[in-house]
Amino acid sequence: MKAISVGEGYGRVNLIGEHLDYNGGCVLPLQIKNSIICELSENPEIECISIVSDKYHKKLSIEKLEKRGDWADFIIGSCLFFGKKYSIVIKKLSFNIRSHLPLGIGLSSSAAITISTLKALGNYYKKDMSDDELINLAYDIENNFVGVGGGIMDQFVSVLGNQNQALFLNTLNRSYELIDIFEDYNFLIIDSNTERILSNSEFNQKKELCLSASKKMNLNNLCEKEIISKEDIEILSDEEFKVCKHVVEENIRVKKAVQFLKDDNPDEFGKLMTESHLSLSKYYGVSTNELNKLVSLSNSFGALGSKLTGAGFGGAVVTLVKNDKVEELKKLILENYNKAKFV
Ligand code: GLA
Repeated sequence: MKAISVGEGYGRVNLIGEHLDYNGGCVLPLQIKNSIICELSENPEIECISIVSDKYHKKLSIEKLEKRGDWADFIIGSCLFFGKKYSIVIKKLSFNIRSHLPLGIGLSSSAAITISTLKALGNYYKKDMSDDELINLAYDIENNFVGVGGGIMDQFVSVLGNQNQALFLNTLNRSYELIDIFEDYNFLIIDSNTERILSNSEFNQKKELCLSASKKMNLNNLCEKEIISKEDIEILSDEEFKVCKHVVEENIRVKKAVQFLKDDNPDEFGKLMTESHLSLSKYYGVSTNELNKLVSLSNSFGALGSKLTGAGFGGAVVTLVKNDKVEELKKLILENYNKAKFV
């Protein structure tokens, strides 16, 4: 069937500022070239919608736009929420999803698939959504249909980012700035190639801890804090203290990192990436042995710094390395961690 409308959604790597976008903090993601493409075609033979994907092969016939509990929910949710927004009954459409973005390794495939579907629908129904509308709708679908409680970072950078500039976003008021990345350096993405154990419940548990800590300290969100005082420590549980420590210090790291990026100081930027990783591992509790191994291997083979990217619990790391050292680094990583894949 010939596609009559196409939408594309880009993935991202988060350079620093992890687990801050649902705490009112600042983040620094970079859009990557890998994307998901949604091709839409008319199909008079079906009642509702059908979905095929090059990653899952099986064709899905969806009779009703309701939650199934798998990857198809991003497309079903997009149809449902787009339909509601524009009072359109979506039917007799086929969706062909082609992914150039590895799924579920912390590169924001969820936002990419949702954005690609919404763009394809927008083109087809000739609805000219503004960037803000697109971001908000994609966010709404992920949070209120699919049920993963992330923040606004992924949708934002997929729509408003580009591949040569990192996007410094204040998630509280949504102000943002695009900043050129280092010349002659690469943010290399290394997939640990282990099954990601991210379940919505683990992600949401961390979020809950942030919320309960904020409540105890009478804050609207954790990033209002700049220092955790003795009094704060007394009222927080151990777990709450740990997530709080990560969030408060990570927010400060992001602001420093932005300055180092502007000052063209990759050495100091890299150090902050590694500090971020150590904090995600020790305090936020979302790293794995494999991710820790990739970070320390990269750093010992000449990278300036490395960290896990995205939610954690498996997936990929991002490592800052000089262009002329990339091939050597890849070789050494593979010699010591043969499952690694480079994105
Ligand atoms: C996931 C979420 C993002 C963000 C990251 C952690 O990727 O979708 O919104 O919270 O985790 O930084």
